[in-house]
Amino acid sequence: MTLSMTDLGRTAAPLLSDDEPMVLLVDLPMLRGNLAGLVEAFPPATLHAVALKASPLLGLVDEVVRAGCGLEAASPTELEMALSRADKSKIVFDSPVKTDTDLKRALASGVTINADNLAELARIDSLIGSAAPNPRIGLRVNPVLGMGGIAATSTAYAGSKFGVCLTTHRAEVVQSFQRYPWLTGLHSHIGSGGCGLDMLVEGVRALDELASEVRSAGGHLGHLDIGGGIPVDGTGSSAPVYADYAARLRREVPGIFEGDHLLITEMGRSIHANTGVAVTRVEGVKSTGGRQIALAHVGADLLLRTAYAPDDWRHEITVLTPDGVPKELTDLTPWDVAGPLCFSGDLIARARPLPPIERGDLLLVSQVGAYTLSMWSRYNSRRSPRVMGVQPGLPPVGLRHRETHDEVVSFWK
Ligand SMILES: Cc1ncc(COP(=O)(O)O)c(C=O)c1O
Repeated sequence: MTLSMTDLGRTAAPLLSDDEPMVLLVDLPMLRGNLAGLVEAFPPATLHAVALKASPLLGLVDEVVRAGCGLEAASPTELEMALSRADKSKIVFDSPVKTDTDLKRALASGVTINADNLAELARIDSLIGSAAPNPRIGLRVNPVLGMGGIAATSTAYAGSKFGVCLTTHRAEVVQSFQRYPWLTGLHSHIGSGGCGLDMLVEGVRALDELASEVRSAGGHLGHLDIGGGIPVDGTGSSAPVYADYAARLRREVPGIFEGDHLLITEMGRSIHANTGVAVTRVEGVKSTGGRQIALAHVGADLLLRTAYAPDDWRHEITVLTPDGVPKELTDLTPWDVAGPLCFSGDLIARARPLPPIERGDLLLVSQVGAYTLSMWSRYNSRRSPRVMGVQPGLPPVGLRHRETHDEVVSFWK
């Protein structure tokens, strides 16, 4: 983060009240640094289609586009959102399950489309007449590298629901480029979180080898889409890991930087995760069954993955005084931090060594910029929090209002 914990805490404290006991802050210079780091690491012609699913807040989407990046859309609504913010030449439509209407819309709009499977290619063939001139259409493949560290977000094991499995259907993939002259792209995304750089580089190598095979068989490749999946450790900038990744690719898979195809990346988590913090008031504390529990306003509605898979999705928690100053790290004892939802698993930290916590203190939860608000749960009909963009020396700017009761009720109409 470019702001210290104290600055973040002091910014959040006056924003909190009974009506708004939790707020999200996004470090805008950090986001801009991540985007600039990505752009600098790769050749200038690369299309960086940043995954909307990681954080679709429109103010941040505009930051992405201003940085020269494009957008990856994985649903019909994400596609419409992308078309309203970026040029079609910079949009990639990757929805894993597409209706014919979705396909027709995407074909007519002129965005890049990645089909998920061979049957989808046959469907596209019957709809290709509705495509804008020179369609950019690719096929997602599964290079079958095995499971990453996190099963639920791994996609390159045999049996994954994503893409065409290369161990069983490689020949059909290569033949598809002869059967469908409009098919000119290859795509692979091997997982999100839990896949280290070694595995990511292996995935790109597998894609490059397949691309050579397609070319040798007479196919033309207009785009190679290497997906996202860069892991995020801590709260520092993602720029160094982008530089490492690109340097390794240049050394180990130089073929993807050669030739006349468009190189595409689809980063999500590494662009946004380390830019966001949630600050919640502690509404109460209790000791029961040998546990100390802090009752807070951040729970499984924001941190869905953390509640269900706490070892895979851990967030640092800093205890702040009511006016936002970090407490000394002394007298540490194990604390559970529980959210406001009606189920016992609504915990965002278990047995975490933390300093003494009292009602009225604040908790700052780190690394909540990606796959958090975009996964907001409607359980218990809780209102989503206000989101503010922050930068050193400037007043916070609104990115999203605190949802109203009426907006929540209208969801259920
Ligand atoms: C096809 C595709 N591309 C890109 C991403 C973004 O991945 P990450 O956020 O790990 O960079 C995802 C994430 O689910 C995805 O499914």
